[in-house]
Amino acid sequence: MITTSANSGNRHSILCVVGARPNFMKMAPIIAALKNLASKPSIQLLHTGQHYDVAMNHQYFEALGIPAPDINLDVGSGSHAVQTAEVMRRVEPVMDDLKPSAVLVVGDVNSTIACALVAAKKGIQVIHVEAGLRSFDRSMPEEINRVLTDQISDLLFTTERSGRDNLLREGIDAARIHFVGNVMIDTLLGNLERAIPTPQIVRRADRPDFPGARNEYALMTLHRPANVDDPAVLKSLLETALTVSRRLPVIFPMHPRTKSMIEKFGFIGLLNVPQMLLLPPMGYLEMLGLMKDARLVLTDSGGIQEETTALGVPCITLRNNTERPITVDEGTNTIAGTDPETILRVFDDVMRTGGKAGRAPKFWDGKAAVRIAETIEKWMAGDFRA
Ligand code: UD1
Repeated sequence: MITTSANSGNRHSILCVVGARPNFMKMAPIIAALKNLASKPSIQLLHTGQHYDVAMNHQYFEALGIPAPDINLDVGSGSHAVQTAEVMRRVEPVMDDLKPSAVLVVGDVNSTIACALVAAKKGIQVIHVEAGLRSFDRSMPEEINRVLTDQISDLLFTTERSGRDNLLREGIDAARIHFVGNVMIDTLLGNLERAIPTPQIVRRADRPDFPGARNEYALMTLHRPANVDDPAVLKSLLETALTVSRRLPVIFPMHPRTKSMIEKFGFIGLLNVPQMLLLPPMGYLEMLGLMKDARLVLTDSGGIQEETTALGVPCITLRNNTERPITVDEGTNTIAGTDPETILRVFDDVMRTGGKAGRAPKFWDGKAAVRIAETIEKWMAGDFRA
């Protein structure tokens, strides 16, 4: 069902789109900064409903003070084609009705490309936040979404130096590209003091036998299809995590996709050991606490590579590449891939040395959303001329 409570006025109006969990913390500071602009553009928030679990939604909206969406498309899950097509089909009448001056999309999920594509074909301006990131791995669905969204965007905001280089190489006009920093880090810095301490999360999980204390555990997340959909790869990663857990207890919040794959392949028994704590998907403040208090993090998430760099916590990335190279060059990230020997070698190294010290990349300073809002205001006042 499509519900809408939004109105469009004569002022410039921006339709902001979220769909999946990693979008929520990026959009929160952008909406706040847009609402603070002197020109008071009309802002509407559309949730495609790509992620629909309570844990994937309300805990984030509430914790981050994001206003309830004006429109919810309730698309839910499906194959990439079905999900993307369903967002497009359902968002078209909303755009016809609201006639926004611009549609603002973030990140690289299916909802991002779907809404950008519908807007671009209707002649509505497209703004892409977190543009230009490239893993150069077209087997990742997100890479396709990134390349295509950037090609049809009118205003592109980048988080790190590599973004501009990639966009220029792909023929994007330099005047449209603005290096503003990282809105996800705006949210992280703004919420650090509210992070839920790990001991509270462990107490709630009712696992008094779990030995991991503050700063004495590894946090692990896995959800990439390449890592969790193939039983051989998934089993090898879980066995590697078990080896890690014999030296450093492991806390493992499970994405719904990962949990269903572990159950389907019958691997759950493997993880039934005292030094492994399995948790459901965490809310934002819980996840922030778990990252902040960890000795190190093992992950295949792009966002967590950035958040650990901002927190100064060592990150071991369980992928062969990253679209966020600044986290390796300047931050705390090491790319380990999925080979058990390499992962364990990097793990030993981090345990011995404490990992890379790292530093905060340029403009990861809590003010990216304000830079974005001010740039949008000038651009709209100049009739969308870049
Ligand atoms: C999506 C994004 C990915 C992002 C991830 C964060 C794309 C292509 N992928 O992947 O970039 O890192 O979100 O979580 O857009 N499910 C639920 N409840 C939900 C949502 C999903 O149980 O609320 C389960 C369903 O079984 C579903 C599966 O998770 O089929 C995958 O969900 P989907 O949104 O298609 O992709 P993600 O793997 O979450």
